[in-house]
Amino acid sequence: MRTQVGIVGAGPAGLLLSHLLHQQGIASVVVERRSESYVQQRVRAGLLEQGTTDLLRQCGLGERLAAEGLVHEGVLLRFDRCTHRIPLTELTGKTVTVYGQQKVVEDLIAARRAADGTVFFDADEVSVAGVAGDRPVIRAVIEGRPVEIECDFIAGCDGSHGICRDQIPAGVHTQFEHDYPFAWLGVLAKVAPSTDELIYAFHGNGFALHSLRSPEVSRLYLQVDPSEPIENWPDQRIWDELQTRLGTDDGWTLAEGPLLEKGITAMRSVVTEPMQHGRLFLAGDAAHIVPPTGAKGLNVAVADIKVLAEAFASWYAHGNRDRLDGYSQACLRRVWRAQDFSYWMTTMLHRDPDDTDEVLARLQLSRLRYVTESPAAARTLAENYVGYTTST
Ligand code: APR
Ligand code: PHB
Repeated sequence: MRTQVGIVGAGPAGLLLSHLLHQQGIASVVVERRSESYVQQRVRAGLLEQGTTDLLRQCGLGERLAAEGLVHEGVLLRFDRCTHRIPLTELTGKTVTVYGQQKVVEDLIAARRAADGTVFFDADEVSVAGVAGDRPVIRAVIEGRPVEIECDFIAGCDGSHGICRDQIPAGVHTQFEHDYPFAWLGVLAKVAPSTDELIYAFHGNGFALHSLRSPEVSRLYLQVDPSEPIENWPDQRIWDELQTRLGTDDGWTLAEGPLLEKGITAMRSVVTEPMQHGRLFLAGDAAHIVPPTGAKGLNVAVADIKVLAEAFASWYAHGNRDRLDGYSQACLRRVWRAQDFSYWMTTMLHRDPDDTDEVLARLQLSRLRYVTESPAAARTLAENYVGYTTST
């Protein structure tokens, strides 16, 4: 089998790349080790920057997004049992949209199907070879049969546990990694959200976030100890802790409901530099992971794919490799901006378990007051939250 761009991984990054390439007349094959239903049901953060929604609309994926996406013009910070609003749109002219990542994936799969795109789900023994030469290949066992896909290029969109990153030889790339002493327990609850805008709360017991998915479904998170098993968190303990951390003195109440899903995710910052080697290009979580506090993961992945799709288009239309060669450099500025903002939001809002004398907690409260009182500081948060872009 031959294709122009072989894509490993059918998450948002791989599927979007395949879709954008198709629109430029470039052939691709996507190879995914999980089942289609697994990929469609995976619950992930769902906050889209305006740049992300603009791109999805421009490439024909705007219909359900317009119908079901919840457009937000502000975000709420809660501490000392009081709520403070950051007016995102007033400060930046931009909005953010709550739209579950599963919906993005569903829309992309539907678009690939409508265009007869080749996406192999349930692929076993996926491997990649020859990325430093002229004819890289993806090998896999598909429906019990070994398949070899010869490609012009390979896009490694296989997430944080993928195989493509290892194709860049040690010594050629550097992996920057930072672990946080926090994890997030995330729940999906069948209850109308108790808020119209996202609430990020700082509390002595730790961080809490009230997000939403639809008029009937709420998404909530609690900072937990990364070593704590999910069994320690029966549903009522989760609600009690959410009530404590999100509690206010202004009469606001948090409605409880049945939990549809719950899981714990550790928090890490990871960046691989460079994001390319020979004919291999890494994108999305395969190249970098951000802690979820700034909701940047999907947005940075989409930004990578926009640069990569344009670079492939330039190669196939004009035989010009400059943009492919400059891919990593073009992406990394934004990646590090997102890392810094995510780190900043994370350290502002989480209780550090080693902060026994509460010095950090005092500093955090001071920073929160400054961010909510000073228009300059609020604008700094806002312009990063909606997606900071530069022309260089
Ligand atoms: N072979 C084939 N597919 C693989 C392999 C492999 N060896 N390893 C991993 N995959 C698949 C995973 O099963 C997954 O479906 O690659 C896909 C990677 O998708 P994501 O993890 O969703 O990563 P990405 O597409 O980069 O999306 C970034 O995901 O982590 C979230 O919140 C983050 O929103 C961000 C987004
Ligand atoms: C979510 O809705 O899942 C979400 C929102 C904002 C975040 C992280 C996750 O910062």
